[in-house]
Amino acid sequence: MSKKILELQNIKREFVMGTEIVRALKGVSFDVMGGEFVTIMGSSGSGKTTLLNTLGCLDKPTEGTYLLDGVNIGGLNRNELARLRNRKIGFVFQSYNLLPRTSALENVELPLFYNIEISHEQRKQKAIKALEAVKLADRLDHMPNQLSGGQQQRVAIARALVNEPVMILADEATGNLDTRTSYEIMALIQELNQVQGKTIVFVTHEPDIAAFSSRTVTLRDGKVVKDTLNENVRSAKEALAALPPAEDY
Ligand SMILES: Nc1ncnc2c1ncn2[C@@H]1O[C@H](COP(=O)(O)OP(=O)(O)O)[C@@H](O)[C@H]1O
Ligand SMILES: [Mg+2]
Repeated sequence: MSKKILELQNIKREFVMGTEIVRALKGVSFDVMGGEFVTIMGSSGSGKTTLLNTLGCLDKPTEGTYLLDGVNIGGLNRNELARLRNRKIGFVFQSYNLLPRTSALENVELPLFYNIEISHEQRKQKAIKALEAVKLADRLDHMPNQLSGGQQQRVAIARALVNEPVMILADEATGNLDTRTSYEIMALIQELNQVQGKTIVFVTHEPDIAAFSSRTVTLRDGKVVKDTLNENVRSAKEALAALPPAEDY
């Protein structure tokens, strides 16, 4: 039996904008079990990023209860929150967020600098291992501007993996990529989920990306309007193989 990694109870998030209050999340409740691959869908402005930032402890809810791996994050101070985030969660963003003029290897080493128990050599070995996992072992010394968009996103995924988090959170991680490269990234995400058992929460507004996940939670105006299991999870590897050869389009 798998256990609950996330438990959200009536999460609300309000932003005060001058005299106006923007209610980005209006009472969101759902659980995610360890090993699930969940996509969060919804149109622009529906609250997806606000929700993901809450899940990732980058933002605190105005109201409601959030348990991450059994820990109530409402009771933690900033330092405790940062430590929990660094240990349990790997983030992947649409814009990769890699440091420029910094090699792929050094970008991936970065999250490990917060852990003083890890030596210089261990840091390097862990980063190499993470880059091998995303099939970039031959690009360790490349700078971000010497890599394609898909390769940069794979570096970002390696950086998200290097701390061996229990959960990967991704916000429109394929939003800047063409179809082929998106499917390559999704094949990698599916492998992380199916082979390594990582829990994945993946924000997207594209239904063909959601088809690769096993469950889809749909938001509208800050509320969950649909939460469905996907009976026929599409294989990204097969979808990739079915695309016409790269030269043809
Ligand atoms: N930091 C913020 N300050 C004020 N309003 C915000 C902030 N972040 C998000 N919002 C508002 O909250 C709503 C949800 O935004 P967001 O979570 O970014 O939606 P999505 O990612 O689905 O496009 C929007 O109306 C947005 O304008
Ligand atoms: Mg967003």
